[in-house]
Amino acid sequence: MTIKDKLAERAGRVENFLEQCLHDKGVPNRLFAAMDYSLLAGGKRMRPVLTLSWASMLGGNAEAVMPFAAGLECIHTYSLIHDDLPAMDDDDLRRGRPSNHKQFGEATAILAGDGLLTEAFGLMTAASIVNGVPADRVLRSIAVLAGAAGAGGMVGGQVVDMEFTGRDGVSLEELRGMHAMKTGALITAACECGAILSGAAEGDIDNAREFGKAIGVAFQIMDDVLDVISDTETLGKPAGSDEEMGKITYPSLIGLEKSKTLAGEYIDGAVRRLSGQSGAEQEFLVELARYIVDRVY
Ligand code: IPE
Ligand code: IPE
Ligand code: MG
Ligand code: MG
Ligand code: MG
Repeated sequence: MTIKDKLAERAGRVENFLEQCLHDKGVPNRLFAAMDYSLLAGGKRMRPVLTLSWASMLGGNAEAVMPFAAGLECIHTYSLIHDDLPAMDDDDLRRGRPSNHKQFGEATAILAGDGLLTEAFGLMTAASIVNGVPADRVLRSIAVLAGAAGAGGMVGGQVVDMEFTGRDGVSLEELRGMHAMKTGALITAACECGAILSGAAEGDIDNAREFGKAIGVAFQIMDDVLDVISDTETLGKPAGSDEEMGKITYPSLIGLEKSKTLAGEYIDGAVRRLSGQSGAEQEFLVELARYIVDRVY
């Protein structure tokens, strides 16, 4: 099986859970439809898969952790809905479908994002309340994820992204910091929380966090590269959007080839963090890390 197939198989398991995790009880029809529309539009499911894999590798019960992983995907999906809004990247296509605001209008899209973000915290608690993962692990993981998703992480990174747009003189270090926040933080939390939820030792939690930081920056570098070299149909979102918006990206600062090389170096650093592990999950995470620079969408 190729890594693409392995990822798809695991994504399928996450998908099955996501299909039944939102409940329309008491939710206005239109809001529920908008939340469901983006959550179930496909997507690589990279973040929940990372959580489950780190948890399994370190001796945890992936099935019990699933609601937490689903919560992460809800937060990621909300970030995509808001990222596409006219006031932000103004993109009309996402995951191969019209963006949420194109389908439901801006107001509903904003609220669908709010709904998914809030729902995520309920799902995370279910890992403990329903599935019996020790409450102290879940509590610590929620604190990590809240920090990563919020103003000092993903949301803050989105603001920095806007501030940099169209600006001259942004340094590579500033760009790395922005990528680490807007994309790296959530990916880092996905790995770190998998380790925490499994009850791992602090050294392993550190490795999960550092692995996540490295693949997180590489992931956004390659997202920037693909925006230049790929096409809209393959990406399921508009290619060339960054240049059109005047975004500061790795390719715009250092060119395509250097960007890819740099992403590869981050991945090498990430893989080194797995050297103390062995077995099928370790192999999967090594392959998944390498796939981040080889992926086509
Ligand atoms: C896209 O993330 C947004 C970024 C943070 C780069 P993904 O490339 O993981 O998007 P999906 O979930 O597969 O649609
Ligand atoms: C997205 O960065 C970061 C998020 C937190 C959603 P991009 O704006 O490059 O993501 P895409 O290319 O629209 O998926
Ligand atoms: Mg953006
Ligand atoms: Mg965007
Ligand atoms: Mg992009």
